[in-house]
Amino acid sequence: MYARRDVLRAGAALGILSAVSPWLHAAVPSGLLTRAIPSTGEALPVIGAGTSGSFEVEPGSAQYQQLKAVLKAFFEGGGKVIDTSPNYGGADAILGQLLEEGGWHARCFIATKIAADSLEDAKAQWAGSLKSLRTDKVDLLQVHNLRDWRTQLPYARELKQQGKARYVGITHYLESGQDDVARIVRSEALDFVQINYSVNSPQAARELLPLCQDKGVAVLINRAFDDGRLFSKVKDQPLPAWAAEAGVSSWAQLFLKFAISHPAVTTVIPATSRPDRQLDQLKAGHEPMLSPAQQQALIKQFG
Ligand SMILES: NC(=O)c1ccc[n+]([C@@H]2O[C@H](COP(=O)([O-])OP(=O)(O)OC[C@H]3O[C@@H](n4cnc5c(N)ncnc54)[C@H](OP(=O)(O)O)[C@@H]3O)[C@@H](O)[C@H]2O)c1
Repeated sequence: MYARRDVLRAGAALGILSAVSPWLHAAVPSGLLTRAIPSTGEALPVIGAGTSGSFEVEPGSAQYQQLKAVLKAFFEGGGKVIDTSPNYGGADAILGQLLEEGGWHARCFIATKIAADSLEDAKAQWAGSLKSLRTDKVDLLQVHNLRDWRTQLPYARELKQQGKARYVGITHYLESGQDDVARIVRSEALDFVQINYSVNSPQAARELLPLCQDKGVAVLINRAFDDGRLFSKVKDQPLPAWAAEAGVSSWAQLFLKFAISHPAVTTVIPATSRPDRQLDQLKAGHEPMLSPAQQQALIKQFG
């Protein structure tokens, strides 16, 4: 297993996709756990993907070819939800190109955002988003970081009514934004919220996640690895003694399982640019979930 992973890494780095892809297929267990979107009952796999940073590459470059292997692993492993934004340094255009080249548009639940300060800007940005993503509609349209939300949420709803977006939502990425997110969840009809929740930022479990559950709002989790920082904290550290019992064989799986162990969470959207890491992440999407005691042990370790 280790040898295979090492070869995968080397192969991906060299862009040897034809050699890599058969292993990608064989190494992924099928049957990702799913959760229902409360507003419709539509089921989504609990492991999704993000594109910030990791998809900000040049079209046609070696990194671009590597991302093709990432998405192949993702879709063949049962993944569906991919989150992007028009302000991720061209990541949405890379995603659109990869989806088109791989023939994956029909398999992908595309979540993107409006990040604008006026209706006029939002309209121009939305037209650009469709072009970048190479589609005429998206699955989820979110107001990025609550920016100008009183104007942008009604605009997102208008696009939903026109059949351009199937769901609408709001996002934030800091615990300091979660009171504002909660206020909007209480006062507005939303399909989704996207927030940060991780072993070292567990605040959402106290009020916001239970509130979303009560209100029937689906939840995407960003920054489950604290934007990658958690990995430097566990460098050379063994997994907890109970990891195997929790069905986990890597820190990445453990961090993702922490996120999806809250029942309010629909899908966690970790980012990676590496196919071996993508394969590993998909392994987190299976029972058993972490017990409350296991979750507390992680919060204590990383808090
Ligand atoms: N306000 C918002 O709406 C908002 C804010 C933040 C994020 N998001 C969304 O949520 C997604 C996830 O958040 P994020 O990208 O900020 O952070 P994240 O998923 O917590 O971390 C991603 C980082 O972890 C690294 N990584 C992944 N697996 C690893 C491993 N096994 N070992 C070491 N490093 C590893 C990745 O690098 P490699 O590429 O090298 O693997 C990447 O740099 C974003 O991509 C975006 O779609 C939304």
